[in-house]
Amino acid sequence: MKTRSPLINVMTKAAFKAARGLKRDFGEVENLQVSRKGPADFVSAADLNAEKALREELARARPDFGFLMEESGASEGRDPRRRWVVDPLDGTTNFLHGLPHWAISIAVEENNAIIAALVYDPIKDELFTAERGQGCFLNDRRLRVSSRRNLADAIFATGIPFKGLDGHDGFLTELKGVMAVSAGVRRWGTASLDLAYIAAGRYDGFWERGLHPWDFAAGILLVREAGGMVSELNGKDIRLDSPSILASNNALHSDLQRILIGKGTPGAAPARRSA
Ligand code: IPD
Ligand code: CA
Ligand code: CA
Repeated sequence: MKTRSPLINVMTKAAFKAARGLKRDFGEVENLQVSRKGPADFVSAADLNAEKALREELARARPDFGFLMEESGASEGRDPRRRWVVDPLDGTTNFLHGLPHWAISIAVEENNAIIAALVYDPIKDELFTAERGQGCFLNDRRLRVSSRRNLADAIFATGIPFKGLDGHDGFLTELKGVMAVSAGVRRWGTASLDLAYIAAGRYDGFWERGLHPWDFAAGILLVREAGGMVSELNGKDIRLDSPSILASNNALHSDLQRILIGKGTPGAAPARRSA
């Protein structure tokens, strides 16, 4: 049995506490689907309650850390070098529709680098954790990214822009490129779990534009500690304010990147010109 560090223990305790409330509320959502008012207000209250539970628990354990939270924004702590980056409910649309695929995401940022990460899926009881230099774990099992080397065998995950977001045409071009060469593309609607699934070797790569820091802060450390690569879509180093993210196992990173930025299929023969 793996012994968890004090920091991971603090994060796990907070996540389990918030998860209890969220699971109870998720059970209620099913009843509310059929009511005239629908579950939307109820779900935003569930989200806020989860954030409050996490904040109380994390602040009690590490009173000096600052916060960057989806609902309450940024607040500096007495220790300006460290802060929690938290999404209390990632996958809200799934939650709202009664789809059992959503998560709590907690990261610790220290001097602008992520040093500890947790993504917890309460429905499947899957706890993904990582600390810098210490590897990545699913519950107590060590994780490695997949070893697939061929695009034709690979499954990729992505996020599709929805109403209110731009970039729909650009996304369709990216999708077309990946569809043509891969074994399939998935859109499961929870970016933190998309990244955790890369770490677990379930997906071989993931890309999305327009995410917020709390969507991927924890996920980037999970992927790296499982031996994978994370960058922006253009190959630049990932930062919390990056406009895009590309994560994969090492073997496929540059191939996937070339396809997404429209530089063609790696290894493909150049198209013959017609006379
Ligand atoms: C969303 C999810 C989703 C992604 C969206 C995010 P939320 O987070 O991570 O997978 O495609 O862009 O906003 O709103 O459910 O916390
Ligand atoms: Ca989110
Ligand atoms: Ca959220």
